[in-house]
Amino acid sequence: MPIWMPPIIAFLLGSIPFGLLIAKSQGVNIREHGSGNIGATNVLRVVGKKYGITCFVLDFFKGLIPTFIAINFIRFDQPADIVAKNFMLLPSLQDHASILSQINAQGLHILTGLCAVMGHNYSPWVSFKGGKGVATSAGVITALAPFGLLILGFIWFVSFKLTRYVSVASILASVSLPFVVIYGSWRHGKLANDTWNKPLLAFAIFIALMSVWKHRSNIVKLMNGTENRFTPKSKKS
Ligand code: G3P
Repeated sequence: MPIWMPPIIAFLLGSIPFGLLIAKSQGVNIREHGSGNIGATNVLRVVGKKYGITCFVLDFFKGLIPTFIAINFIRFDQPADIVAKNFMLLPSLQDHASILSQINAQGLHILTGLCAVMGHNYSPWVSFKGGKGVATSAGVITALAPFGLLILGFIWFVSFKLTRYVSVASILASVSLPFVVIYGSWRHGKLANDTWNKPLLAFAIFIALMSVWKHRSNIVKLMNGTENRFTPKSKKS
């Protein structure tokens, strides 16, 4: 598979606004209800639990599948001429084949994950006003660093249990991501050269900042006490 394909697949898959489509299938314009977000939380809140879970799973796989493809189906030990062949559809790039053959494999994995999240957050199909990227980022991180996802999932779960705010749990898990990456590279009291992964840390910082930015309306609501708290049905009056 050509090396340019996973990022493109990622962006196209990521841009599918599943939340909007699922809600629409039930006659709901999700943009006009709840938080107005197209993510799983709002679909669950407005349309119902099974639709919200379906939305989460689909948004999660939008991140997981292309990143998994990039990791497992792209070989980087190819000589320059094979890389040039990969770029047959992009003749202007063929001269750069030797450079392209040296592209860091992990850079491609991260770029692919980033494209999936950007596709979701800035989907062209919804006027570039997509979701907040939490489920899709979780899918990407599952492919890049499954153990990291376990830690982040734990942070998300504890934060949610303590506050009952999905947004607080999502923000805390997102801002923890760079620290989890650093933790993953930490050996014997310092960052180990062999595991120290600068592209992954840059990705983690970018995803964390973008998540906080995407949650800015939630942050305002949290500060003025109007954020939607998730209350179990049995406790609702
Ligand atoms: O992942 C989105 C979640 O953190 C907040 O969703 O609908 O409450 O803005 P929402």
